[in-house]
Amino acid sequence: MAGNFTFSIIKPNAVRTGKTGPILAMINEAGFEISAMKMVRMTTLQAESFYEVHKRKSFFEGLIEFMTSGPVFVMVLKHENAVEDFRKLIGATDPAKAEPGTIRKMFAVSVQMNAVHGSDSDENAAREADFFFTASERFL
Ligand code: RTP
Ligand code: MG
Repeated sequence: MAGNFTFSIIKPNAVRTGKTGPILAMINEAGFEISAMKMVRMTTLQAESFYEVHKRKSFFEGLIEFMTSGPVFVMVLKHENAVEDFRKLIGATDPAKAEPGTIRKMFAVSVQMNAVHGSDSDENAAREADFFFTASERFL
């Protein structure tokens, strides 16, 4: 059965350019509820651990540099079928391939600086939410 929460990050490029509000509005309008949220600046060690699955990819070093380049908003979002529906709302990793009306189509500037993260499975949503939030920091 599909889970009812996912984990998201508003990435440094979007926070830096004042897109946090517009992105949150789109998330809200799509019916997702915020269960937990905070602003953090990831350390290199934290980012390396969070993106461990990509360790051997060519883009890993650039990804870590980008994700630690400024503060981000991390959040847990509640919605039926959350993981899949949120991936639909954010669109393809490459903004050139993202559908019109998706968050990445509107706010991504490149494959790397693609404005938002969304978990790719219920298992990863649980791991990623636990990475940033304790039980008492999560609501709903
Ligand atoms: P995310 O994890 O951020 O939701 O993105 P995703 O599933 O759509 O993409 P994934 O394959 O998990 O890649 C994680 C992030 O790494 C950066 N990336 N850069 N330069 C490149 O070729 C490249 N490929 C991926 C992006 O920031 C991507 O979101
Ligand atoms: Mg991913």
